[in-house]
Amino acid sequence: MCGIVGYIGNKQAADIIIEGLEKLEYRGYDSAGVAVISQDTLKVTKKQGRLKVLADFLEEEPIEGTIGIGHTRWATHGAPSDENSHPHTSMSGDIAVVHNGIIENYMQLRQWLIEEGYTFTSETDTEVIAHLIDHHYKGGLMAAVQKTLRQLEGSYALAITSIKHPDILIAARKDSPLIVGIGEGENFIASDIPAILNRTRKVYLIEDKEIAILEKDTISIFDEYGVTVQKDVFEVDWDVESAEKGGYKHFMIKEILEEPKALRDTLSPRLKDGKVDLDIDIDEELIKNVRRIIIVACGTAYHAGIVGKYAIEKTLGIPVEVDIASEYRYRDPVVSSRDIFIVISQSGETADTLAALRMAKRKGAKIIAITNVVGSSVSREADSVMYTWAGPEIAVASTKAHTTQLLSVYLLMIKMGVVRGDIDDALQKQMVDALGKIPEQAQEIIENEETIKMMAHRHYSIHDAYFLGRNLDFAVAQEGSLKLKEISYIHSEAFAAGELKHGPIALIEEGTLVIVIASQSSLYEKTASNIKEVKARGAHVMAICSESADMVMTLADEHIAVPVTMDIFMPILTVIPTQLLAYYCSVERGIDVDKPRNLAKSVTVE
Ligand code: G6P
Repeated sequence: MCGIVGYIGNKQAADIIIEGLEKLEYRGYDSAGVAVISQDTLKVTKKQGRLKVLADFLEEEPIEGTIGIGHTRWATHGAPSDENSHPHTSMSGDIAVVHNGIIENYMQLRQWLIEEGYTFTSETDTEVIAHLIDHHYKGGLMAAVQKTLRQLEGSYALAITSIKHPDILIAARKDSPLIVGIGEGENFIASDIPAILNRTRKVYLIEDKEIAILEKDTISIFDEYGVTVQKDVFEVDWDVESAEKGGYKHFMIKEILEEPKALRDTLSPRLKDGKVDLDIDIDEELIKNVRRIIIVACGTAYHAGIVGKYAIEKTLGIPVEVDIASEYRYRDPVVSSRDIFIVISQSGETADTLAALRMAKRKGAKIIAITNVVGSSVSREADSVMYTWAGPEIAVASTKAHTTQLLSVYLLMIKMGVVRGDIDDALQKQMVDALGKIPEQAQEIIENEETIKMMAHRHYSIHDAYFLGRNLDFAVAQEGSLKLKEISYIHSEAFAAGELKHGPIALIEEGTLVIVIASQSSLYEKTASNIKEVKARGAHVMAICSESADMVMTLADEHIAVPVTMDIFMPILTVIPTQLLAYYCSVERGIDVDKPRNLAKSVTVE
């Protein structure tokens, strides 16, 4: 995710900004830039690639000056490039802005600004902010910023500088973190505490809709109405390493706890007036006449594909084939221009997924990519891209990327269903309402974390675990099983519950842990029978089920109940307890959770 650092004082701003941005490198980014007031000009330097590219350039061509802002960009709107990197400036070059977050109404604002005579040099949502401030500027920077903020929908953390006001920096936030660091004769802006921890431990935590004006000796903070806010100084007592993880012990738990936000970020820009509004570039005639949908992916992303198969076939009645990329590419598959081919990949760089995409493209299929990384190979080579806006995922085991993949598959399904007439207005509304509640339902599950932690504490020393489920619950069982084995090294397998009697039941003995996923209301009874079968052979049954699955809860030895949504959407919710269970088992076993042995975050070799 993007990082922001701002500096005002007596030292060289560029050095302090680069030092701060280095501390945020772990968060992932694809380009970086600075804007520094240097004598009477505002000098901007920005470069695609690692921060080192920018730092080396500044070494060759230093910008002298003691006031500036800087940014590491993790692309959302527009591919990684020098032009799309921040800071973005007004046309005159007088005002520079760095931004974290997403401006949801930027298309309308951009159009309006173009009509007003503004020209754009980037594809970003951020550039509208620089032009809007310029538009409102009548001699007071603060007033122009306030007017601009009132026009923005979405999320932002901003640092703003202007050559016409060479003794102040402005910071503002809404739904994106921002702090102000307090120094002596110098002050700082940062998106995250680690960026300035080498310089000061005293900070103001800026709240939503507040604006801060920094001079080198003073900091003034205002609410959205311009009323002064008195704030307590927050003394940071963590070390840099733990602060990078936001105080969490591991990236994995931080990323699980970020799921409600990631889901909200992925969802909200795609809903307009109670309808799904997707910007996918696939011919509507193809959607109407599609012969088959093929979904190809690896690992956790493949499990999102399995959910997609069940949900799309059930809702749209289109045959869906789902395959593991490494299998697909070597089996000489039948694919044609009447097929829609969906690849799912968090990184967008997985070698087998990319090879499968290329193969399908050669054979004439239209490719839709669901990926978390803007500018990744998959996003560049697909005909159309849907981004999961989960933010960078650092832990090897995928969590927030997975739930946002599921959400993206559902959104795509609704879009296709509406185009084809399989989903009418009433059903669309029902689905949109249900999806709108998912982020807060995910939050409810996470708040039940302690229960799952206790369950992990009871079971972490087992050797084997078996996951059971039917239909969509079988997809979640497979993901839960993968998660448990990859980070806790407990041998684990997932079975379609109906297959139990065809072999797996032979493995059940006294005390064997069987984790049953039960969220599909039409299948509770069938699943309940399976619980009885394994319990009769001595199994200890843990159920991860819907709150409405009374029968399952009564039979299981222990259970975690998740809130109810439409059956097809239940996997987004039931998968979260499996992630928490795997995480806490791994912690109890003393494993390096974020970097489990032999595994890589992005598998770029076959
Ligand atoms: C690796 C990672 C998994 C991921 C899989 C696919 O195995 O450890 O977490 O699900 O690759 O990666 P992708 O980036 O294509 O989603």
